[in-house]
Amino acid sequence: MKYKGMDVISLRDLDRDFLDFLLKKTKEVKEGKWQNSCKGMIVASLFFEPSTRTKLSFDTAIAMTGASMIGFSSAATSSTAKGESLSDTIKTIDQYANIIVMRHSIEGAARRAAEVANAPVINAGDGANQHPTQTFLDLFTIYELKGGIENLKIGLMGDLRFGRTIHSLAMALSYYNVELYLISPSILQLPSYYIDYLDSKKIKYHITEDFTQIGKELDVLYCTRIQRERFADPVEYEKVAGSYEISTKNIDSLSKDTIILHPLPRVNEIHSSIDTDPRAKYFYQAKNGVYTRAALLGIIAGNIN
Ligand code: NCD
Repeated sequence: MKYKGMDVISLRDLDRDFLDFLLKKTKEVKEGKWQNSCKGMIVASLFFEPSTRTKLSFDTAIAMTGASMIGFSSAATSSTAKGESLSDTIKTIDQYANIIVMRHSIEGAARRAAEVANAPVINAGDGANQHPTQTFLDLFTIYELKGGIENLKIGLMGDLRFGRTIHSLAMALSYYNVELYLISPSILQLPSYYIDYLDSKKIKYHITEDFTQIGKELDVLYCTRIQRERFADPVEYEKVAGSYEISTKNIDSLSKDTIILHPLPRVNEIHSSIDTDPRAKYFYQAKNGVYTRAALLGIIAGNIN
């Protein structure tokens, strides 16, 4: 009951106890426990920005919990298109729903929604800022496949600058004792705000541009797409597009036990010929999104304890 009604906006607001609890409950949900944990409830699913996995895995999770869903999958079909403010949209939906799941292109939009709504708000991605529920499924996948999170060596590769999944995951991992490898072209390095955060948590990290040099060290290589839509200048994007790729040419610079994760969608950073390699776990990871989100909804509803 401790987490009943909580907003989930940023990893900064959470702690190790919550993450450990969520991992444990996700495992139980995956094993078939806690069905119908939101029976009779209404969950609003508001996607102002495109989504495949987050939207559809939330839809699936909502169905698993026995809740009903309302919402939209594009700002164009909501009154945002008529000029309605975000606060007014949220204040209205707050009249209908028990839990609000929201994705928006503006950083801070989820926090703003949580300020005006009585219902708990779950951030399903706000611009280049945070994506907590993706992090929960990432952590769960690591926890399952590696038997825990402590003492792992984890590479975060790609667009560390604009990738919200990276920002949330880096913060979450800093609640554990891990060693990080921050792998990216120099203009896509992790923002100083997150570097300072790692420093404040005394997390050991290495900054590099090339995963092949350190691949044998890694327990996990978490790869991301370059976030084209977040670049103000397309020329800057073109400079780094295609600058890294995991393929049959370089995969054996990883150890035989390194798992490869990716939040998806991918563009060209993981070649499809890698998909059959036993280390490639990104589609398995996507499936875990359903269990993690079902567990989260039940916890927030106060019915998973
Ligand atoms: C990510 C996102 O939306 O931030 N996708 C997802 O939720 N699985 C990653 C991305 O878009 O690159």
